[in-house]
Order: sequence, then structure tokens, then C-alpha cells
Amino acid sequence: AERTAFIAGLPKAELHLHIEGSLEPELMFELAQRNGVAIPFASVEEVRAAYAFANLQDFLDIYYQGMGVLHTEQDFHDLTAAYLARAHADHVRHVEIFFDPQGHTVRGIAFGTVIAGITRALDEAETRHGITSKLIMCFLRHLSEADAEATLDEALPYLDRIDGVGLDSSEVGHPPSKFQRVFARARSLGLKIVAHAGEEGPPAYVHEALDLLKVDRIDHGNRSLEDPALTRRLAAEGICLTVCPLSNLKLCVVDDLAAHPLRVMLGAGLVATVNSDDPSYFGGYVNANYQAIADALDLSRAELITLARNSFTGSFLDDEAKARHL
Ligand code: HPA
Ligand code: ZN
Repeated sequence: AERTAFIAGLPKAELHLHIEGSLEPELMFELAQRNGVAIPFASVEEVRAAYAFANLQDFLDIYYQGMGVLHTEQDFHDLTAAYLARAHADHVRHVEIFFDPQGHTVRGIAFGTVIAGITRALDEAETRHGITSKLIMCFLRHLSEADAEATLDEALPYLDRIDGVGLDSSEVGHPPSKFQRVFARARSLGLKIVAHAGEEGPPAYVHEALDLLKVDRIDHGNRSLEDPALTRRLAAEGICLTVCPLSNLKLCVVDDLAAHPLRVMLGAGLVATVNSDDPSYFGGYVNANYQAIADALDLSRAELITLARNSFTGSFLDDEAKARHL
């Protein structure tokens, strides 16, 4: 209980959050009804029961299905506003949110509809709660680089609201090298660069993300620890890892949170952070992730403070804003 209160009171940033992964079953039903979309579940309980995953792909199949209820600007707004209210309750002061435009444009939803709904909620949260935000557009790596290039083209009118690009979806078989050209173009446009790497994929994918995509941050990065030279490099370069404990457990990246590498990461001097990834699907928002990993590894207050500080250090806030939080 004492630890719970301590975690709750820590000001923190969340750096790894897929907004479509914050769609709670209750809102899924509401939007399905609002938009006349059929969903293959009879109740909220049935939806939750379907959230049993053996690996990343099991989850992705149901994640892409779930986002099918999102149609209008209001839907994207309501989704984002609900997440921001939860984040505010967890004492989150800054968020860097991923969205998956290709998951929507493929269904005929306009890129501008998605951006307008998300950014309206972000603006409201800054006014109401003082939560600042960055928006990161992810490319789906199971699709082609040409498809990613077309998505970047669609984003050009909205670059005043997009701070970075990322890479998500099915990792194994879709290495960062597949997207080298589109990330080079994104970089030339001044966008920050992140990529999911080393969640299910090998350490070589983390090397590629660093050397070929020139990432500013690695999402997950767990498997980096299999490569001591890579681990030393990540520490020396101060590359932030956005670690997601409950996600790792639910997607069987770890068998047991007691075997989670977070403490090893901190011990190796890595800028590791704690994040919720897809909280509706993985069973908890950011404080629940801190709590679960702190309980499993018996993390000290000093370690929890380091994790919360790392979330600002690793953020894309400017130095002045970082200094205000640190
Ligand atoms: N990994 C890859 N793709 C994703 C994830 C993830 O954890 N969440 C949403 N898309
Ligand atoms: Zn993720």
C-alpha cells in the first residue's frame, strides 16, 4: 500500500502508448453501436476473455479488429480523451502517443479525421490537466516500405502536429532495414525517430534500428541484453528503452515478471522507462505497470525514482521543459 502511494505520487511521462491499444471494451461496444459496426462479441466479459495471447501476432490480430469501431473524428477524440483522463489520474505529466494511421486509412478513414480527433483531445488535456504531449506516427512493418512512403506523404500537411515516426506491428521477418529509405526521409523532415526492436526480434534488429534508421529511442529493446557489446553501446549513447512490463508478460516475452530484465537494464546503466503499451489489452495503465514490476523485482524507491526521471530524460521535450520536470 505504501509502495502504491509512492508510485501514484511520482510525476512521470509515458513514452510508449499506442492510442488504439487504450480502447476499453466498454467504449468498443459504445462505438460499435454508434457506428453500426458488427463486433464478434456478445459482452464486455467476452471481449476480456478473448485477451489471452501466446505471442505478439495473437494480440495484433485482435488489436486490428478492435480498432475497426473507430470511424469519426469524435471517436478518435473520445478514445484519446479517455486515455488522457486515466493518465492524469496516474500523475502522468507528459505523454508521447503512438497512432497507427494505416490501420485506419485501409478502412477508408481519412488521415485528417484521425489527426483531428486525437489532437483535439491532446489540446484539451493540456488546457484542463496541464498534460503536455508529442504525437508519433507509426508505420506498420508487415506492410511494404512503399505503403509507409505513401503514409508519410499523407502526413505532410499535418507535420505541425506530428513530432516523430515509429515502427510497430509484426517484428520477426520485418527488420528495420526494410524501412531505411522512408526513415531517412522522415529524418530529413525533422521528425524524431523511434522503432520497436528486440521485443520478439533479435539483437541484430536493435543494431539495425540504431545504424540504419538512426533512432532516438528504442521501443521495448528487451533482447538487447543478449548482446553485451550492444548493451554497452546503448548505455554509452544514453539511448532510452521504453519498456512495457505487463505487455511483456501478456505477450509471453517473459514467462514471469520475476524474470523480467528491468533491474538488469538499470544495473547496466541503461535509460530504461516503464510504460503501458496497450493498456486495455494488457491489463493496466502506467501505474499498474510500475506496481507489478516493483512487486515482482522488489524495486527500491531509488530505482522507482530513477525510472520516473528516465521517462523525462528519454522524452522529446526540449531541455528547458525537461529541466522543469527533473
Ligand atoms: N509491438 C508491436 N506492435 C504493436 C505493439 C507492440 O507491443 N502494440 C501495438 N502495436
Ligand atoms: Zn508498442
